[in-house]
Amino acid sequence: MTLIFAHRGSAGTHPENTMEAFYEAERVMADGIELDVQLTKDGEMVVIHDETVDRTTNGKGFVKDYTLKEIQKLQANFKFKSKLFKKNRVPSLREVFQWLKGNKLLCNIELKNSIMDYQGLEEKVIGLIREFGYENRIIISSFNHYSIVACYRLEPAVEIAPLYSSRLFMPWIYAQSIRAKAIHPNLKAVRDEIIIEAMNNGIGVRPYTVNKADQMERLLNLGCTAFVTDYPEKAWKLRENK
Ligand code: G3P
Ligand code: CA
Repeated sequence: MTLIFAHRGSAGTHPENTMEAFYEAERVMADGIELDVQLTKDGEMVVIHDETVDRTTNGKGFVKDYTLKEIQKLQANFKFKSKLFKKNRVPSLREVFQWLKGNKLLCNIELKNSIMDYQGLEEKVIGLIREFGYENRIIISSFNHYSIVACYRLEPAVEIAPLYSSRLFMPWIYAQSIRAKAIHPNLKAVRDEIIIEAMNNGIGVRPYTVNKADQMERLLNLGCTAFVTDYPEKAWKLRENK
């Protein structure tokens, strides 16, 4: 069965990377969530997509210049101005992990360290995964492949998956060489043959960001491992009606 990962929670319907978006993913029965992690000034892992808070909160400046306490004073209800989301804020990864205790969702953590050089991020994320005993329900991905390999070396029980957006030649061979069990390509970077060939070679494929019904249908028909979408409810209904 093709698994459905709710992108940044359920970014199509709720403020991205907030607890409310993750609750929505659970409500609509997604199989997993995808979220983005950056580091604060005081070394805390926080769930936010950009290096700065400008786009998704009412604050300004780099995440790395805020402490956890400071960043959590900001409103994170970007685009969704309804009163419902007035109290949304930037969650810490620990808060998300606490909530995961109450459900069986998988969690794809994207380390946002391609531009930023967040020293010690790999040790921190592996440490938290170990503390919660989540080795079997987390997938760590990043566009920074050095970083995911570093995570694997720290904890081989945690799955890693390289993110990429160009048309790689035989990406399953690359994945095998870095001990990744799956690839996370931009949907535009994979043709059907690549998906099939990767899976035939034992490498899963979880394309992002799959929002249109025809794209979802295509992946469901191929039996693709999973996909990442802003609209998990729509994906679930399509899968249900297969
Ligand atoms: O899961 C992959 C996807 O989230 C990568 O792109 O920019 O949405 O983090 P972005
Ligand atoms: Ca992401």
